[in-house]
Amino acid sequence: MMTGDCVVRFVLMLCCALLSANASNWLYLAKLSSVGSIRDEETCERLRGLIQRQVQICKRSVEVMDAVRRGAQLAIEECQFQFRNRRWNCSTLETMPVFGKVVTQGTREAAFVYAISAASVAFAVTRACSSGELEKCGCDHNVHGVSPEGFQWSGCSDNIAYGVAFSQSFVDVRERSKGQSSSRALMNLHNNEAGRKAILSHMRVECKCHGVSGSCEVKTCWRAMPPFRKVGNVIKEKFDGATEVEQRKMGSTKVLVPRNAQFKPHTDEDLVYLEPSPDFCDHDPRTPGMLGTVGRQCNRTSKAIDGCELMCCGRGFQTQEVEVVDRCSCDFAVLLKAGMTECQAILYNMLLAMMVFLGMITGILIGHYSMCRWTLHVCGSGGHGEWTSVPEPERTIEHTTERSPLYAPLNTHQ
Ligand SMILES: *[C@@H]1O[C@H](CO)[C@@H](O)[C@H](O)[C@H]1NC(C)=O
Ligand SMILES: *[C@@H]1O[C@H](CO)[C@@H](O)[C@H](O)[C@H]1NC(C)=O
Repeated sequence: MMTGDCVVRFVLMLCCALLSANASNWLYLAKLSSVGSIRDEETCERLRGLIQRQVQICKRSVEVMDAVRRGAQLAIEECQFQFRNRRWNCSTLETMPVFGKVVTQGTREAAFVYAISAASVAFAVTRACSSGELEKCGCDHNVHGVSPEGFQWSGCSDNIAYGVAFSQSFVDVRERSKGQSSSRALMNLHNNEAGRKAILSHMRVECKCHGVSGSCEVKTCWRAMPPFRKVGNVIKEKFDGATEVEQRKMGSTKVLVPRNAQFKPHTDEDLVYLEPSPDFCDHDPRTPGMLGTVGRQCNRTSKAIDGCELMCCGRGFQTQEVEVVDRCSCDFAVLLKAGMTECQAILYNMLLAMMVFLGMITGILIGHYSMCRWTLHVCGSGGHGEWTSVPEPERTIEHTTERSPLYAPLNTHQ
């Protein structure tokens, strides 16, 4: 009897400990597909990944939740963009937590994920305020009057204060609760705040000129958030320069201080982490999300982390040839356009859709479309050293006009 009770308690405690490491489970909202999917208070109860206090916030602010969902998606997209050339590339799972166990340790990667997600919620909610889709908030009316530079504040200034406050209450809720003064909670809170600062300290002034033929007699301006890509770049830079910290007791409070006393203390805008990262080289079935780098593309000439040496962890790589059907300069439509009148332009517009299709077929037939060949390098699974010139499997990507920067032209053929 007694032991059974103990086991149950132990399991419960273990579950609690595991869950509290996953304060980012709300990111699972990104997996909800349709717009307007969070409509009423009842939906809040059914959302996976929210803790009880987040469900309460959801019920109080149902109209904001769609922006939170978009924020979660934005965070994942930006993480995947910023980490596209790293061994861990932010790939998500269909289960919770979305990044698997990779961000449950207090690593640099976790610091990035927390910062970018706190920022993305502040960003998406602020966007929703400005677009007029929310009743609770709108543009920032504290920005008005004439500026010292002589322009008129006008138009919709982004209400970043509202977005930041919402992010603080929703994203930080688990760590802000009583008794959460673990080093991990402090780390998360610090990084969440640093993420929001990346927006706050890069707010910009956007202006419009009024007056005859574009002269700037009257200038009206508004405060706007930076594009989210800029926010991602800032946080990625902070990731590269993140500080390893440890918890120290200062009087009655606990603070995080650099582990290496020679380093200068981190600022509010820097990211901090507690544990070194794993090398992310190998697939580990016991660690969901740890996919390893087998099959990843790498850059043969780079000495950085995207280079084949580091990306493939010294296991060697495979060289593949890829063929791409591409539009060449003597395009069908360009030929047609020469000497075209305005009247013909209307007809041209109507025919354009057909032309694209016909043009492609004739193009291939008479050589207006060309086959471009690219080589790409892909991490191998080890044991064979370096393989080269393995022409299969040959893949053909039709109609690709954008090229991934990882593809190198074939003149580097060996
Ligand atoms: C990340 O890398 C894995 C292989 O390790 C690959 O399957 C996945 O598609 C990549 N994800 C993204 C988002 O690039
Ligand atoms: C590969 O790395 C080299 C050296 O860093 C760089 O100059 C080049 O642009 C990279 N190639 C691609 C396709 O990204």
